[in-house]
Amino acid sequence: MPQIIHERPEHAEQIEPLLDRCFGPDRFKKTAYKVRENTTPLPELSFVTVEGDKLLATIRYWPILIGDVTPALLLGPIAVEPDLQGKGIGVGLMRETLKIAKALGHRLIVLVGDPEYYSQFGFQNAAVLGFEMPGPVEKRRLLVKEFMPGALKNVSGVISGAPEKSLSPGRIATKAETDKIVASLAAFAPPTDA
Ligand SMILES: CC(C)(COP(=O)(O)OP(=O)(O)OC[C@H]1O[C@@H](n2cnc3c(N)ncnc32)[C@H](O)[C@@H]1OP(=O)(O)O)[C@@H](O)C(=O)NCCC(=O)NCCS
Repeated sequence: MPQIIHERPEHAEQIEPLLDRCFGPDRFKKTAYKVRENTTPLPELSFVTVEGDKLLATIRYWPILIGDVTPALLLGPIAVEPDLQGKGIGVGLMRETLKIAKALGHRLIVLVGDPEYYSQFGFQNAAVLGFEMPGPVEKRRLLVKEFMPGALKNVSGVISGAPEKSLSPGRIATKAETDKIVASLAAFAPPTDA
């Protein structure tokens, strides 16, 4: 049965080929990669879905700043093994990791993706709010989700990778605190039909 677990260094050799299969070799030209190039994914929010030794899916979240001042997370990439798409693995990974991001104190999540898929998780258009990416992006695909009403108030501007010192309060959770939050999420289980 598939399980969602924290990404470990040994998963990298399966993650990169999975991303190639899902997004193609040109994926590095995407504007989201430009945002990510000067920062690193948060280990406490990097997860994989595995079944035994086989990696089925990956998701990562990166620290960003909106308009140079507002800390937030950039979600992505999320990718599910092509043969296994449409079985609920993506929804499971989104729901469980968003729950953890919220529990860790994050307030805003940005992503570039299809609104038809991400609206079910509470994402709305960010371009109309004045969000911009530092390169080309389809405006309809620039999305944001707030974890509490009001988190988006007065927030707009260009999205950039966050330097370590400007990370949001949620990022300061220690390893022990993070482990406790993850362990406390009873619903941290894979979809049953995958
Ligand atoms: C997008 C992705 C992560 C979704 O994961 P998944 O496990 O395939 O999706 P789920 O099984 O959880 O959800 C399936 C449902 O979402 C819908 N869906 C999947 N991708 C969609 C998209 N891009 N736009 C609209 N709906 C989409 C399916 O049609 C299906 O709907 P249904 O249940 O009504 O039939 C996965 O398909 C994937 O890796 N795709 C390639 C890489 C990619 O595009 N990543 C996202 C970039 S932001």
